[in-house]
Amino acid sequence: MKFKNLLLAGAIMASGLATAQSTAVVEEQENAPTISRHIYGHFAEHLGRCIYGGFYVGEDSEIPNTAGVRTDIIQALKEMKIPNLRWPGGCFADTYHWKDGIGPKEDRPTIVNRWWGGVTEDNSFGTHDFLNLCEELDAEPYLAANIGSGTVQEFTDWIQYVNHDGESPMANLRRENGREKPWGVTYWGVGNEMWGCGGNMTPEYYANLYRQYATFMSSWDNDSGIYRIASGANVDDYHWTEVLMRDVPSHLIEGVALHSYSFVEWDAKGPAVDFNELQYFKTIERALNMETLIQKHTAIMDKYDPEGKIDLIVDEWGGWYNVEEGTNPGFLYQQNTMRDAMIAGATLNIFNNHSDRVKMANLAQTVNVLQAVILTDDEKMILTPTYHVMKMYAVHQDATLLKLDLKTDAYQYDGKKVPAISVSASKDAQGKVHISVVNVDMNKSHNLSLDLTSLNLKKADASILSAPDVRDHNSFDNPNKIQVEEFKDFKFKKGNLSVDIAPFSVIMFELN
Ligand code: AHR
Repeated sequence: MKFKNLLLAGAIMASGLATAQSTAVVEEQENAPTISRHIYGHFAEHLGRCIYGGFYVGEDSEIPNTAGVRTDIIQALKEMKIPNLRWPGGCFADTYHWKDGIGPKEDRPTIVNRWWGGVTEDNSFGTHDFLNLCEELDAEPYLAANIGSGTVQEFTDWIQYVNHDGESPMANLRRENGREKPWGVTYWGVGNEMWGCGGNMTPEYYANLYRQYATFMSSWDNDSGIYRIASGANVDDYHWTEVLMRDVPSHLIEGVALHSYSFVEWDAKGPAVDFNELQYFKTIERALNMETLIQKHTAIMDKYDPEGKIDLIVDEWGGWYNVEEGTNPGFLYQQNTMRDAMIAGATLNIFNNHSDRVKMANLAQTVNVLQAVILTDDEKMILTPTYHVMKMYAVHQDATLLKLDLKTDAYQYDGKKVPAISVSASKDAQGKVHISVVNVDMNKSHNLSLDLTSLNLKKADASILSAPDVRDHNSFDNPNKIQVEEFKDFKFKKGNLSVDIAPFSVIMFELN
């Protein structure tokens, strides 16, 4: 047993708490949905040090870069199999004028980032930089357009600039700026948080505006396959989803968004690292509430779209805490602990299990902002526990969802309960079965018994992300404190798998 696992075992024994029991039967199902790889998407806003000083250091930087973007970040994101990247916001999107970010960099006007720290940006990272980065990453770009302070013409010009192959004013301008072939962007967001920073609109007003914009985004029959995503509800604003589904004709919309963050209280978010159990419990409770949110928003969508043609796109989710001491409050820079690994693992399991309707999601945000997968400090870069969960779970991308009926024990705190164990399972194109398991209980180990007999599996391997303390994290002085390790401490006999899952740990099983 490794030293870390010994510590874990010691901590559990010292707490005198017995192992609790959870069970599930895992089976193939008819008409099973594919888990879209886009559920594992990310989000990069012009916010704090996400773009400038994060992704983008400029071509003249001493930090190794590809066209100004850090090579180590590109490498790490490729290894994590990033499937898509949303840009340029967030709230920033509805202030952004894309034409300010093309052409010679020295001629570009500046922009004051009004929402995030009031800093002046030089627009040196623009459309070409972003779309070339996506090509380098082999990730689909997801462009969020400016509806709040832009125009229909500005939006349709952007689509023509990046997507038109023939002669046209915008396509020719693109060529003048050095790019012959269009990038072919499929995913487009029609504004962001239109109920808030996007313009404080009512759903009725936005639904009408959306119809207008969506009309001009494509041809009569959308033969170019543009995928239009309407700005969606804030958490449990079911009225927003109801109005959009009711008022927008189905031929004008491919996806409806939803945003939900996990925090202690909006006005008292608590520390990213030195949280107490109450703060931990409340954050996890909020993260697990994603299950209810998806069920209820989906029920509304089912009413108007029984065939399930319109997708639910959770294009902002993740943990949101107080910024690290001494950093700009508008930059939303926070550390990332095993609590974040719990949020990531459990939320991704929820998305997988709802992959019939949830077709894309975007963790906020990729580098140096909120629940980041990567943190940087000058030339240094670290991978967070969230990164490791995303990389472990990449095996679910484009795999077929397996049915599971989970009976889980509870994690209890101060008379309140949440399910302790979260599981999702899939079968990939090679016939390998992957089962991701999370124990969010901060104190207690839980036994999970999985009945896999119908799947005819012979061999099982596993990996684990765990730590002695839930507040543990990687730091620039200790970048590999938390990393994925091989895990052998389970029994697999005659199709039955039994495992004791340590508190706040994530396990990925691979069986065939
Ligand atoms: O991700 C940070 C901000 O959170 C986004 O800009 C906005 O859409 C949301 O409120």
